[in-house]
Amino acid sequence: MRSRSLVVLMLSVTGFLRDARVSCCDESCTNKPVFTPSSLVVRFGDSTSANCSVCEDACVRNQYDVETPVGRRTKMGSTVLWTVDALTEWSPSSMCYYSNDAGHQCCTYLHVTVYQPPHKVSISVNHTGPMVEGHRYTLQCTVEDVAPVKNLFVTFYRGQTALGLPQSINSTDKEPEKPQTQNFTLHVNPGREDDGAEFWCEAKLELGPEGPKLPPVETSQKITATVHYKPHLEGSSPPDPIRVQEGELLQLNCSAVANPPPLYTWTHGSEKIDVSEDVLTINSTTVSDGGKYTCSVVNKMGNVTREFDVEVQESYTVIIIVIIAAVVLLIAILGLVAYRYCYKPGRVGRYNLKDVFLRAHSAVPTAD
Ligand SMILES: *[C@@H]1O[C@H](CO)[C@@H](O)[C@H](O)[C@H]1NC(C)=O
Ligand SMILES: *[C@@H]1O[C@H](CO)[C@@H](O)[C@H](O)[C@H]1NC(C)=O
Repeated sequence: MRSRSLVVLMLSVTGFLRDARVSCCDESCTNKPVFTPSSLVVRFGDSTSANCSVCEDACVRNQYDVETPVGRRTKMGSTVLWTVDALTEWSPSSMCYYSNDAGHQCCTYLHVTVYQPPHKVSISVNHTGPMVEGHRYTLQCTVEDVAPVKNLFVTFYRGQTALGLPQSINSTDKEPEKPQTQNFTLHVNPGREDDGAEFWCEAKLELGPEGPKLPPVETSQKITATVHYKPHLEGSSPPDPIRVQEGELLQLNCSAVANPPPLYTWTHGSEKIDVSEDVLTINSTTVSDGGKYTCSVVNKMGNVTREFDVEVQESYTVIIIVIIAAVVLLIAILGLVAYRYCYKPGRVGRYNLKDVFLRAHSAVPTAD
């Protein structure tokens, strides 16, 4: 008779108990007990609760039992309310079961995920001091005291950019649910664009829809990369040749990026110039400033050179001044010539007048 069926409701909160019951518990029976919610995600130390509803009316009339080493059980008809004020078990996989007339146990497990956000997340690189362009380094992200590790996803970042997909581990540990410290690594080949970049990592616990709305996220400190690299010239190549008017400003720009900061040396033809800046400035060029300039940029990582071919063109102003001077001189000469021409006819005229006078005078009959 149904009324005589023995209904045993048991709520187990220890893994040990679960293992002990597995052999005599049928999980594929019809009329299984139902947990609400069907699974729990609880932060270690937090409170939690679940309801187990065993079966219909029959259960209420029969004797049943509840066993649990953790939390409180409250029997209400065919349901048991399990509540825990502070969950401090790492594998509290709970079981709810009853026995029917035939002595079979019908049961359901409540899966409880107990999580703990990482105690600390830190990043390190397998190297001290500046990194070298093109060399390979290993970034390591250490996530301390986190559970469960199978839900942990670690992402490396450079500035705001994620470096690859989140990493996780396939946990094969015997007790994977307990807090563990895990290391994640990423290989990097820093280039000059990484000089000054910030690297960090982020550990996230992906706990699914039953988990907290905002998944627990912890970030590491940031490490600023110093990358040493050889000089690279900035700006576009200069025109070839560079034409400049005599007397004008000449600036040759050999600016380069490099770490450590580079040294600049300049030569004009085969002569070294006493300039150690990236820009060579000649305020007023002369024809002798033309020719080939070589700028050499060097640091301990390497060197680069840039050549400039300078043509100094004689200035038009000089030519204009020369032309004006020539014109002035010409005018002066012409003026002098003209004066000489004008002066001679004047004297002739006077002589002529005198002659005319004399002639006129002589023409007048005199008493002589
Ligand atoms: C750092 O790790 C990289 C890649 O694993 C390795 O090639 C390099 O030798 C390591 N450097 C140091 C200083 O341990
Ligand atoms: C030289 O070139 C660099 C890079 O193109 C530029 O930043 C800098 O202002 C230039 N300097 C001068 C004096 O033109």
